[in-house]
Amino acid sequence: MSEALTRTNLVDIKHLKEYFNVNVGFFKTKPLKAVDDVSFTIKKGETLGLVGESGCGKTTVGRTILNLYKPTAGEIWYDGKLIKTKEDIKEFRKKATMVFQDPYSSLNPRMTVSDIIAEPLDVHELYTSKQERRDRILELMGYVGLNSEHASRYAHEFSGGQRQRIGIARSLAVNPEFIVCDEPVSALDVSIQAQVINMFDELQDRLGLTYLFIAHDLLVVRHISNRIAVMYLGKMVELADADEIYNHPLHPYSKSLLSAVPVPDPKVARANKRIVLSGDIPSPLNAPSGCPFRTRCQYAKPECAEHMPEFKEVSKGHFVACHRTEEIND
Ligand SMILES: Nc1ncnc2c1ncn2[C@@H]1O[C@H](COP(=O)(O)OP(=O)(O)OP(=O)(O)O)[C@@H](O)[C@H]1O
Ligand code: SF4
Ligand SMILES: [Mg+2]
Repeated sequence: MSEALTRTNLVDIKHLKEYFNVNVGFFKTKPLKAVDDVSFTIKKGETLGLVGESGCGKTTVGRTILNLYKPTAGEIWYDGKLIKTKEDIKEFRKKATMVFQDPYSSLNPRMTVSDIIAEPLDVHELYTSKQERRDRILELMGYVGLNSEHASRYAHEFSGGQRQRIGIARSLAVNPEFIVCDEPVSALDVSIQAQVINMFDELQDRLGLTYLFIAHDLLVVRHISNRIAVMYLGKMVELADADEIYNHPLHPYSKSLLSAVPVPDPKVARANKRIVLSGDIPSPLNAPSGCPFRTRCQYAKPECAEHMPEFKEVSKGHFVACHRTEEIND
């Protein structure tokens, strides 16, 4: 882990904003601040876990980084270069890709496995002969634990876990360096989740990949992540090494997420008393003033309604956005 911290940044996101204009009445629109001033880096070969409740902006962060949405504001740097022009985006897309949550709807059930995997090879003309194309398909299938007998079968014949493997093989076809994994195991049975996560881990070692790994659940990202970022209502509220977040969460929201995770060690479990949050996550169309978490935070004080807390480094590599970090964690 500490080794990861010494590597160079592959992805550097600065003050990213993604606002969607949504209709709120006749001819009236309002900006929905899905991602609101988010900054972070991902080092080469690292996995950054990104967690938070439904609707907090995780997918939007992933899609905006890949320029599938045009950023409202902010900068995306990749390998030391600002991604700005159409040409930059085109080049960047050859190196960065996304794996989606739902292996059922993201694959065309009427295509064979080999056609699905070959699609990006064909689009980007990544072979010079039929033989090379065939060999590459088999190589990609091998990476994800599928064999040649699967090649001529149709996607609908496979289980969720196997479909996710097919989707991953397709994503790997362009030889990416960076993959946004958007809840790639959430739709799978719990018994299959660990296998697929282990596969992501092995592929990372084998191919030198860098991941932004999105999940609702802290347990899912715990083992695969070097560092973990926690989002709430379009903002990043905490970021630290994975072990640090688990052992010393500082933000009240991270504490509540963690208290819902079953812990095998009874001493840790006692210290982590379950915190049940009252109320739902507010709509990003009507976000609270000041700290976005204040309507559900047991430590909220009047000052929390006045200013958005700064995302501050409180110890090496540990960032938190809360006015009362010191008092709460005394
Ligand atoms: N294309 C869009 N147009 C308008 N609003 C959008 C769009 N995409 C997302 N949103 C809104 O932006 C907010 C963030 O959505 P996003 O899908 O990024 O959240 P998420 O954290 O990925 O949620 P989930 O865990 O459910 O996947 C939500 O309020 C959502 O309704
Ligand atoms: S800033 Fe205030 S409301 Fe927000 S998390 Fe900290 S104590 Fe709670
Ligand atoms: Mg999502």
